Amino acid sequence: DTNEMILALETSCDETAAAVVKGGTELLSNVVATQMDIHEKFGGVVPEIASRHHIEQITIVVEQALDEAKISMEDIDAVAVTEGPGLVGALLIGVNAAKTIAFAHDIPLIGVHHIAGHIYANRLEKDFKFPLLSLVVSGGHTELIYMREHGHYKLIGETRDDAAGEAYDKVAKALKLPYPGGPVLDRLAHEGHDLYDFPRAWLENGSYDFSFSGLKTAVINKLNQLQQKQESYRVEDIAASFQASVVDVLVEKTYQAAEELNVEQLIVAGGVSANKGLRTALEGKFEESQIDLMIPPLSLCTDNAAMIGAAASIEFRRGNYKDLTLNANPSLIL
Ligand code: KG4
Ligand code: ZN
Repeated sequence: DTNEMILALETSCDETAAAVVKGGTELLSNVVATQMDIHEKFGGVVPEIASRHHIEQITIVVEQALDEAKISMEDIDAVAVTEGPGLVGALLIGVNAAKTIAFAHDIPLIGVHHIAGHIYANRLEKDFKFPLLSLVVSGGHTELIYMREHGHYKLIGETRDDAAGEAYDKVAKALKLPYPGGPVLDRLAHEGHDLYDFPRAWLENGSYDFSFSGLKTAVINKLNQLQQKQESYRVEDIAASFQASVVDVLVEKTYQAAEELNVEQLIVAGGVSANKGLRTALEGKFEESQIDLMIPPLSLCTDNAAMIGAAASIEFRRGNYKDLTLNANPSLIL
């Protein structure tokens, strides 16, 4: 049966999400209960509070996902869940809910790596063309991943310190902007100019690794210096200069790797793929190339369960099921 119905759950960070995906490509429902407003007060995700809200929300979002898909549990062929990486307490809520559903309804249980999910969000829009390269940019990850076929992941490069989204969040914090910083800085960047010429960390020749902590420090030092000298500055120009540096490095390295690896497709994944500056720069860079560029719609960029259902479809067809000993793994390797 290639039209399996998967109920998917995602609770790795601060979104409690459930979705129903048919045949790995068709999205029947996608419910996300965000806790962002709660964590905003603390300037970041508070793990204890996140777990508590996941407990409160999980059955509600599951019922809503079934309702919106206009189906009942009897129509579900398997239940999938993010098993890691993420916050362990948060992951556990989803894992335990999925195990309970699998046991109660006697259906297969599938464990999904969060990053595989982000990558497979793209497949809800368009089919993959192998080999492909994926640029994964989120709050916890900045990675280039090569895939020669479904479910096969090879790490080409990764950040040596901060993830791209993390750098956005930290710089936003230094500028006293609300959490999460990415969307706010992105908006401000469009009203500013790249005046400050912040560093670009290209690293050694031929390396596809990234580094954003030097940039973050350069921005913070610049801010301190401006404030000490009581020089006036526009937050928009700081944002634009910071974003220009992040986008330059991401786009240039991704393009070089895609060309060198001779891929058919470049797919972008993770929360930072919502970034307008990054999207525009990638579109410009790949316009002339033979490589097919695919960027997910905004609703599938940040954490959701639809992406988990899409990735789970591959494992379902392979019969790669988990038993009820499945545990949350905060540092799961892809
Ligand atoms: O994928 P995601 O929802 O959660 C993780 O798995 O980390 O990504 C969240 C990250 C946050 O760091 C947030 O600031 C960043 O994605 N982000 C953005 C934008 N929208 C979200 N960063 C830059 N520009 C954006 N428009
Ligand atoms: Zn994520």
